[in-house]
Amino acid sequence: MYDLIINNARLYPMSGHASPATQTCLAISDGRIAAIGETGEARETIDARHACLLPGFIDCHTHAVYAGDRADEHAARIAGASYQEIARGGGGILTTVRAVAAASEQELVDGARPRLATLLAEGVTTIEIKSGYGLDTANELKMLRVIRRLGTELPMEVIATFLGAHTIPGKHSHESYMDLVIDEMLPAAVAEKLADAVDIFVENIAFTVADMERLFAAASAHGLKLRAHTEQLSNMGASARAAELGALSCDHLERLDEAGVRAMASAGSVAVLLPGAFYFLGETRLPPIGQLRKHQVPIAVASDLNPGSSPINSLLTCMHMAATLFGLTPAEVLLGVTRHAARALGLDKEIGSLEVGMRADFCLWEIAAPELLCYQLGGLRPLAVYKDGQRVNQLQATKG
Ligand code: NIG
Ligand code: FE
Repeated sequence: MYDLIINNARLYPMSGHASPATQTCLAISDGRIAAIGETGEARETIDARHACLLPGFIDCHTHAVYAGDRADEHAARIAGASYQEIARGGGGILTTVRAVAAASEQELVDGARPRLATLLAEGVTTIEIKSGYGLDTANELKMLRVIRRLGTELPMEVIATFLGAHTIPGKHSHESYMDLVIDEMLPAAVAEKLADAVDIFVENIAFTVADMERLFAAASAHGLKLRAHTEQLSNMGASARAAELGALSCDHLERLDEAGVRAMASAGSVAVLLPGAFYFLGETRLPPIGQLRKHQVPIAVASDLNPGSSPINSLLTCMHMAATLFGLTPAEVLLGVTRHAARALGLDKEIGSLEVGMRADFCLWEIAAPELLCYQLGGLRPLAVYKDGQRVNQLQATKG
């Protein structure tokens, strides 16, 4: 006896490719996929009426916990200032750091909850959230506790990434800040089990490749997964080194060169592309999509939701942008928010595709084909969202 059977679905398992399966039913027991294409007795049976059934989407790179906004910096950039100039002047990330320091844990939870609920309503069942607007031990831990609380308050999988190495607060030298990150913040986060992974912003306005090597050595010793923001604004050779050191993903990548692509390919590191930041910062240089394809680097797509470079509370919008701005095919985009996004989190045995034994995180979409999700901008919502086999939305469907 299964817990749930979904009949008459057009199944898109996203296991290896984005094509539909020949089977039309999915059986669920104990929150996991128990069978595909076999029907039987179940406590509940649902007729999907030929809706498309896809894995729940995974937003594998966000900074969704923050306070305040940076609308004035947006206006300054429209008037001609660059993101780097604003950062060097003490604004940018540091503006949000001041707002986060002034906010309580409860205020941060209350601010982030509707952002996550909005993503859930779009079919996002797993979200990764980074710290990085604390930049001192108390505030980094506060952010990480907020991220953990969101995972208990919402019916979503919330993955916490420690990004203490986001930028250098003014009162510190480069070295003294890295010492603080590695010797104090990281062990404290590990001791409270507040982080699943570490990340670092390797950039000419932030940290060096040598800083990343130090951080990764310490984080690996604590058993954390490794990620990095690399080659966004300048080419520092950081992606190649991150990949060699075992980073699950390198993210942004507008300035990645072919040597970096090759290194990522041989290490199996995922290229996480963030078209929302590309769009919002008015970037013109595209990530090297052709080379990523040529060397078969798995590509993921995420929202990068944050107040500075991607104030975009919509993964579907970023999927549309990945197709229209980056030229990814709809199949690449769909794999980029399912299977490959799971791989960027090191969770591809659990989520991101529909296979027997994996978690029953999936959505029903009343649309002609999943390609519609990269084509139509706005107005699309899944008919039903399931997390661990439980229905977690009660929304009206929108037909594409
Ligand atoms: O992923 N690149 C660094 N971090 C963020 C931006 C953070 C901010 O501007 O607040 C990003 O784009
Ligand atoms: Fe980011």
